[in-house]
This record gives sequence, C-alpha cells and structure tokens, in this order.
Amino acid sequence: MPNPRPTSAEIDLQAFRFNLDQIKRLIGPERGILAVIKANAYGHGAARIGRVLMQEGVGHLGVATVEEGAALRRAGLNAVITVLGGVFPEQHDQLIEHDLTPVLYNLTWAEALSKTAAGTGTRRSVQIKVDTGMGRVGFALEEAEQAVAQIAEMPGLELTGVLSHFADADLQDQAFTDRQLRRFVELEERISKQGIQVPFWHLSNSAAVMNFPGAFFNMVRPGIMLYGYPPSESFAGKVPLKPVLSWRTRIIHLKEVPPGTRLSYGGTFVTRRRSRIATLPVGYADGYPRRLSNRAEVLVGGRRAPVVGTVTMDMILVDVTDIDSAALGDRATLIGQDGAEKITAWDLGRWSETIAYEILCAIGARVPRHYLE
Ligand SMILES: Cc1ncc(COP(=O)(O)O)c(C=O)c1O
Repeated sequence: MPNPRPTSAEIDLQAFRFNLDQIKRLIGPERGILAVIKANAYGHGAARIGRVLMQEGVGHLGVATVEEGAALRRAGLNAVITVLGGVFPEQHDQLIEHDLTPVLYNLTWAEALSKTAAGTGTRRSVQIKVDTGMGRVGFALEEAEQAVAQIAEMPGLELTGVLSHFADADLQDQAFTDRQLRRFVELEERISKQGIQVPFWHLSNSAAVMNFPGAFFNMVRPGIMLYGYPPSESFAGKVPLKPVLSWRTRIIHLKEVPPGTRLSYGGTFVTRRRSRIATLPVGYADGYPRRLSNRAEVLVGGRRAPVVGTVTMDMILVDVTDIDSAALGDRATLIGQDGAEKITAWDLGRWSETIAYEILCAIGARVPRHYLE
C-alpha cells in the first residue's frame, strides 16, 4: 500500500478514553451517556470513535443525520443510534431499515412514521425534542405535554426519551440556562404526573456536564469534551481534558527570498528581510480556514512559525527565518504539541474568529486519520 498523505490527523484514543472517564466521574455510575459523534465525531472519525465508546460501555450514540447513522450501521456498530437533527418522511424507510432512533418535533411527521412503522409490524424507538429556549427545533413548551402524551400512544412507536438543548450553558451568565432547566424540570414533573413512562430525560451538553450537575437527569449528551476541549475558552481548566486530535504536515518546499518578495495570492504579505519561507501542503480544501491568512502560527522544530500570505486551496506558507534547523521534509504541526509548544483548536478558532468546534469539524475528508491506541 502506498504511504498515505503526510498531511494527516493523529487521533489519540488514550486521550479520548481519559476524557470519557472525566465525564463518567462527573455524572456517576447511575446515569447514561449519549455520546455525540455527529459530523464524523467532530472530525475524529465516527466509526472508530463509536467503536471505542461501545468498548467503554457507552451504548447510546448521537448523530445529526440518517446518513451518518446508516454509515455507522454499515461499519457494524450495533449501539442505539439517535438521529439528533431530524428526519424527513421520505427517509422513514431508511430510518427503519437501519434501526435508527429519530428525534421528533412535529405531530404530522410523527403520525407518518407511526403509520410506516406499524405497517412493518415493529415498534420504532423515538425520542421527543422540546424547545426550552434554544429556538432551533423542538415542540414549543405549551404544546409539549400534549405532544408527548399523543406520541406515547401512537401505534408502531415506542417513546424512549425526551430531550432539550441549552443555548447558553457555555456562558458565564447562568440566568438563561437556569430558566431552560426549570422549564425542562417542570415538563418532566407534568409528564410523570400523567403516568407516562419515559426511560430517558436528557438536556446536558458538555458545558452542562462541566458546570450544571442539576441538569444531568438520567442521561447526558456531551460532544466537545469527549474530544478534549472545553465548550468555550472560559471553561478551560474546569475539568481536566486532553485534546485528542493532532494535525500535522511536512515541509514540501523551502526557499530563501530577498526583502520585498510578495508571497501568495494578492501579495498580502511582502517580506521585510531576507527570509526563509516553507511551503506546507495543506489548505482551505483540507479545512484550514482561509481566514487564517497572515494570522496563524504553526510549529516547526518545537518553535512557532507565522503563516504568511493568503491561505490557498492546497498550500500555506510559513516564515521559518528564525528556525535555523528547519529543513525540507520536516514535520509541521497545525494543531498539537511539538516540544514545549502547543497549538490548540481553540487557538485556530480564536485566530480565525470562530470556535474550536468548527475547526475540528471542518478538517476535510482528504486528511487521513491515524489512530494511536
Ligand atoms: C442536540 C445536541 N446535543 C448535544 C450536543 C453536544 O454539544 P457539546 O459538543 O457542546 O457537548 C450538540 C452539539 O451541537 C447538539 O446539537
């Protein structure tokens, strides 16, 4: 087999297990974890990460789409797979074929699924989403109680959970999170007063797992902290976490240029001194944001080298003038540790005015993932 591309991501499964253990420690042994592995496990490879989770006793996995769930089934995972994002009626057959649990938030499509599922003579596990303040999807609070009662009675469906999602749990100001939590607690009380049995109630994303023990119910739904990052930089250090992914490449071209040399598209960087410029084979087509042009740093030989000029589709340029040892073929670290220096997904997020989540999810399909046990 030919050597894979050197622009690759290393996924440290020991670090992943460490992060999972932190979650288990925080929530205790009585509660379930629905591990969020949508968007290819935030760029880490959903099939492999899903398998590790199952080995570690996590039996519930969350994806965003039917296609993501089907891919996990094709990879042989037999966990309970919940499609958190929503399902169109045209996908109901596929949902049933792959034994996926949808999240429902309108009665029309719930009835359609009920009919299709009943027609197959089986009961489809479903969950219900309630909008307690995120304002994205979910039954409105006023209609939620009635909707839960109706769906619980629909033939062909088995209600296995009710969930909601926090909008602000990663902020310092907890007022809105408290309000969402109160709404969910009240709903749970009203539903249980009606005598409706719902096996799982879940609301807590990573921010809540780290900061809101009162929101754990009997299941939590963390994503980003599994991958070793806090949900916002202000949460750094609240819980020990180890970044799982390192993103590296190698110097594919190295040159010395005089002062006054324009570099890359648009000449947005012009050298001011005699410079050594290294070219790295990674670009925005790999998910390295173009917004990082003249803003980011990479690590070469354990030292920081600034990205100079515009990030292109397949290549970036870095200034290694001050790194004497830099040589053709040397390793360069985009995310990860090199010697005493470290670059995190939050660094790239801050430099490109986005968040660590987006940086991780955007790492492209043409970047091979290597797994370290
Ligand atoms: C419905 C839902 N639950 C849980 C999560 C996990 O959130 P986090 O990665 O912040 O833990 C997400 C992520 O966006 C989500 O959309």
